[in-house]
Parts: sequence; structure tokens; C-alpha cells
Amino acid sequence: MAFQLPANKKMQVRIIKNGITMDSPGKLTCLLIATAIFVSAQSVYPIANMFKPEATPADSIFNVSMLMLAICAAIFLVVGGLLAFTIVRFRRRKTDNSNEPVQVYGSNRIEIAWTVIPVLIVIVLSMATARAVVEVQNKRMPPDALKVTVVGHQWWWEIRYPELGIVTANELHVPQSSVAKLAHTFLKLQSADVAHSFWVPQLSGKIDLIPGITNSMWLDPRRTGIYLGNCAEYCGTQHANMLIRVIVDTPEDFEKWAAAQKVNASADPQLEAARSAFMALNCINCHTVSGTAAKGTFGPDLSHLMSRTTLAAGVLPNTAENVRAWVKDPQAIKRGNLMPNMQLNPRELDEIVTYLASLK
Ligand code: CUA
Repeated sequence: MAFQLPANKKMQVRIIKNGITMDSPGKLTCLLIATAIFVSAQSVYPIANMFKPEATPADSIFNVSMLMLAICAAIFLVVGGLLAFTIVRFRRRKTDNSNEPVQVYGSNRIEIAWTVIPVLIVIVLSMATARAVVEVQNKRMPPDALKVTVVGHQWWWEIRYPELGIVTANELHVPQSSVAKLAHTFLKLQSADVAHSFWVPQLSGKIDLIPGITNSMWLDPRRTGIYLGNCAEYCGTQHANMLIRVIVDTPEDFEKWAAAQKVNASADPQLEAARSAFMALNCINCHTVSGTAAKGTFGPDLSHLMSRTTLAAGVLPNTAENVRAWVKDPQAIKRGNLMPNMQLNPRELDEIVTYLASLK
């Protein structure tokens, strides 16, 4: 199987390796490379529109921010307007013969006004914010809520559905909530190493994942689709490459997805050789493949690897070619990540990739 990275990914890999330099390719080429990365980035990292909330917690935040924006815009217009008026109306004129304007000291009425009005504005803004916080935080968990534990790792997301017995990574599937059938997903957020932050702008606010502490958040997305989020707390070199996808399915699609995830990993008898090769390597110390001897929990669960859309927490589209590039040298793709280059020979690499690509 001949392997080729897509051209734009090759550039990206080279830039990650070398850092962006202006020397050899020249500025125009650099611009082209930047454009290529941006265009490729469009497909792998579509940008979430935070002004289009699609779940109740995001609505609350959106409403408070619009209120803040409106009040601040009004203050800006009043202050800026008064300032502009004053500058024009009281500018120095040719007929002015003294150097200094008339000096005015103190006006109780004005001073009371500019103390009381800002105090009232601050009270209104804090009450509105407190109300939104309470609305989101004090939400009681409905008995039929889907429970999910999200664990932040450097630099990927472990996603567990304890009641369904599903473990996956980087892609959180949740059912759509509709008027006919409300569906809430309650998240427990934890960290395996350093502080991370779960942020899917269209669905909820940012919630930190702190070692030793369990935080919580809930979602009730109204529309099916893929909602992109980022880690929003600097957590090391690859913080920017710690993307999360929330995939909102119709309740039927969610059931189908969950049923497929619950099944043990594919054990195609024709792939016995490839499977044995995988089981004989160190891969199994860090990764789990359900129904096999691979029970590591340090890295992402691979039982249904190919059912996910991206690799390495959103860095590459999940194709057999990219799995090969990743296994061959993970550090070339996501430098600093905790998976070492296993120095596999070409035969081992073929077998590992054949096996991983069968894990649908
Ligand atoms: Cu995890 Cu930033």
C-alpha cells in the first residue's frame, strides 16, 4: 500500500518540524502554504459560530453576553457622543483671548449621577449573570439523562459512558433533544494530568478539568450535526491540537451508534496475523481493544477506532493512510505527544495498520 500524505498535510508536517521560516521558499510560497493550511484547516477544523447557540446552557450565556454588549454599546455611545460634542462645542476659538477656560469646581448633582448610574448598571449586569449561572449550574439531572465522563489528557479527550459500558475518544456522541423528547446529557469533567478546559461554544460555556476535582456540565442540543470545541486552558505544547467534537445524533442514530460501540472489537479471522502482531507489541500497554488482551488505559481506546472522524484529537482526517503515518512516527505529526515512534519495520507497520483499519 503506497502511502502519501495529502499535499497540504505534508506542508503542515514540515512546518511543525521546522517551525515557520521565511528563508528558502520565499514569502509568496509561505503565503501559499499558510493559505493551504487554512484551507485544509477548514475541512478538519470548521470554526464554530458562537453566536448561534444550539443548547440551553449556551442560550443563557448568549443572552447575558448580548445584554452586556447592548449596555456597553449604549455606554460607549453616550460617553463617546458627549466627548465628541464637548470637543467640538467647546474647542478653542480665534476669539478666545484668555489661555485657560473658566474653571468649574464641583457639582453635587453630576457627581451623584455618575456614581449612582454605574452602580445601577453593575447591579443589573451582575444580577443577569448570576441568574444565568444559577440556571445552568442548578439544573437538576433528569433521571433519564445520559451520563458521560470526560477526562482531559495531554492532548486528547477520553470519553466514557459508564452506564452503557462505552469508552471512546475525542468524539462525544449525544442524542438530540426535541420538544417531543427532551434529552439531556450530563457530563462529569476530570483530568488525568494537568488543567484542561472543555469548551464547545455552541453548546455550553467553558468548564475546567482539574486534576483531583470533578466538575460538571450538561447539554441538550436541539439540532443534529457536529459541534466543534477546543481545549480552552493552556495545557502544554499541543494545547491547540486538543479538539473535541460533539456529534449530535437523532435518538435512533444515537441508539445505533451506542449499540455498535458496545460490541467487542472486530475479530475477523482473516486478520489473525495482523492481530497477533499488534498484540505482540507494546501497543497493548497503553491502548485497549475490547475483547482482547489489550487493556492499556494510558492512550485512547482503539476498539472502534475507525468509527471516529479524526485522528490525534482533530489533527488529521481518520483514514488508513493517516493511521499509517501516525503509527510510523507520531512525533512528526503531533510533536510532544506521549506516543513514541515505535521504530516498526515495514512488515510490522503493514500489519499494525491492517489491524487498526479493521477496527470499525
Ligand atoms: Cu488541554 Cu489545553
